[in-house]
Amino acid sequence: MLRRNLLQTLFAPQPAPVQPAPANDFHFAMLGDRTGSAQPQIYGRALREIALLSPDFVIDVGDSIQGHDDAKNEEQWREVTGIWASQIKQKHYSIAGNHDVWDDRSAHLYTKYTGFPLRYSFTHQNALFVVLDNSRHAALAPLELEYLESQLAAHPRYEPKLVFFHKPFWEQPLAKGQVNFALHSILVKHRVGRVVSGHRHKFIRYVRDGVAYMACGSSGGDMHGKLVRGEGFAQGCFYHHIWARVKGGEVQFAVRELDGMGGHGRLFAAEDWDGAPKFDTGDPAISSRPAT
Ligand SMILES: [Fe+2]
Repeated sequence: MLRRNLLQTLFAPQPAPVQPAPANDFHFAMLGDRTGSAQPQIYGRALREIALLSPDFVIDVGDSIQGHDDAKNEEQWREVTGIWASQIKQKHYSIAGNHDVWDDRSAHLYTKYTGFPLRYSFTHQNALFVVLDNSRHAALAPLELEYLESQLAAHPRYEPKLVFFHKPFWEQPLAKGQVNFALHSILVKHRVGRVVSGHRHKFIRYVRDGVAYMACGSSGGDMHGKLVRGEGFAQGCFYHHIWARVKGGEVQFAVRELDGMGGHGRLFAAEDWDGAPKFDTGDPAISSRPAT
């Protein structure tokens, strides 16, 4: 009897160990496209606001120079890296956009001036950031997906996991309710909850199968054509930057529209936007019934 109880104790199913919440407590800021056709004073205003908020680091989503001009390529990098040096005091990560990289020479200069390769990953506390390159292609090439899987496999205990690349090729399929693309399968498999892109000069966000896809819009790039077509704030056309709060395994994004000559200073939680804003675009605070 004693022996049977001992065996039952030894071989009884053990409860799964409780995973402690990842020890994260930091902020970072995201900058949208500066180009094409950088608008006067807009990018500098976004940088000024970010500097005053003092994040732990800054990450831009690409298109930092106008590019596509070999003769002016280095001059344009010197201009923007000078702006960064004067206004960004924190660690600054870059992503390659189609205005930054269009051939092998421009790719070389991108790395020379930003200090980053086209694809890389980094960790901050217990969070993993994977940066991929689709500057010269709309979708992510197989090499990019292989790199993503290798980094996710190499960092299984890091939470949260965030993936960045410039062109939001996911926009059209997700808008149609389609999730049958390779990236989505990888993200669901590895429980990657956040994707951030840029490029479209408009704020975009969709959530599918627990993955929140978001495009940071313009932090200086031209929106004139969209505005002429009648698009506005509700279509994501407004100058902004995005603030990220990472606490434990949670990520919260707050979208900040510029004020003054750059907009109306509207501030809202990214989660209140799924395909379209779910709040009063004239006054995002009104649904919270602000008390006095
Ligand atoms: Fe772009």
